[in-house]
Amino acid sequence: MAQDSPASHAGTVRVGDRTVNRLGLGANRITDTESARALLERAVELGVNFIDTADVYQFNESESTIGKVLGSHHPGVVVATKGGVARTSDGGSVDGHPEYLRQAVEGSLERLRVDCIELYQLHRVDPHVPIEESVAALKELQELGKVRQIGLSNVSVGELERARRVATIVSVQNRFNILQREQESVLDYCAQHSIAFIPWTPLHRGNLAAEKTLSEVAGRYGATPHQLALRWLIQRSPAVLLIPGTLSVVHLEENLGAAEIPLNDEDFGTLSRLAVP
Ligand SMILES: NC(=O)c1ccc[n+]([C@@H]2O[C@H](COP(=O)([O-])OP(=O)(O)OC[C@H]3O[C@@H](n4cnc5c(N)ncnc54)[C@H](OP(=O)(O)O)[C@@H]3O)[C@@H](O)[C@H]2O)c1
Repeated sequence: MAQDSPASHAGTVRVGDRTVNRLGLGANRITDTESARALLERAVELGVNFIDTADVYQFNESESTIGKVLGSHHPGVVVATKGGVARTSDGGSVDGHPEYLRQAVEGSLERLRVDCIELYQLHRVDPHVPIEESVAALKELQELGKVRQIGLSNVSVGELERARRVATIVSVQNRFNILQREQESVLDYCAQHSIAFIPWTPLHRGNLAAEKTLSEVAGRYGATPHQLALRWLIQRSPAVLLIPGTLSVVHLEENLGAAEIPLNDEDFGTLSRLAVP
């Protein structure tokens, strides 16, 4: 892959033994449409080599579309998925039982059309199953060669430490963005322990235009508030791996352009004071 692809301009981050560009793609709204397939292809063309999905996204369709477009013929692209939320008639419920996770991994392997899942993340911690048991199941799947690396999502520092006593955890995915920073301690823990931190809703679900200071600073750089929010995250910590979610090629390209904003320390400081941690 070209080293000067737009996605590589923000630099790289280690996810265990893989190195990926810090600007990836969140695929939670991807369905099997022509435009979504084109978006995935364009993302890879622009150098995106980390794509985040989950078995529950779009009732499995996000995974199966990614499998159809990428399958195993893009070995340089890390497709990260998640399991541990069971689809039930009344919505979803967390299930971290080993037997559930084992069958969830089989389903993801089939839909993603790979022999081994690059990064498998426990989507949520099941309050009825000790995290050690869920992670031990993933470690067994890793030993069987079905999962290459293990990540967690929606965890506290305490849960992360417990999980790390059972298996090597290479990533954590928690909610974090310029306006919602409750997970700052988890981010800092990850940075200290060389664990990739993947903030979900890095764009505050697209609701940023009303934030006056952000828009004003962005305007001075000729950028959009969304680009600046991503740029701020890049500068916030070298552990950050971004997965902005989009269905729009225009937004995809805009998001990759965030790396180019020459954000100075003073403006970084102003933006850092926008939300109370
Ligand atoms: N682990 C978890 O529990 C969890 C929970 C939620 C999400 N996630 C992951 O995190 C990823 C990102 O989160 P998210 O998609 O919910 O929220 P997000 O990335 O903060 O925001 C996505 C929204 O922003 C819009 N957007 C994207 N780029 C934009 C741009 N340049 N300008 C203006 N609007 C823009 C998108 O609309 P357009 O389609 O029009 O661009 C979409 O409505 C998901 O795809 C998923 O992989 C994980």
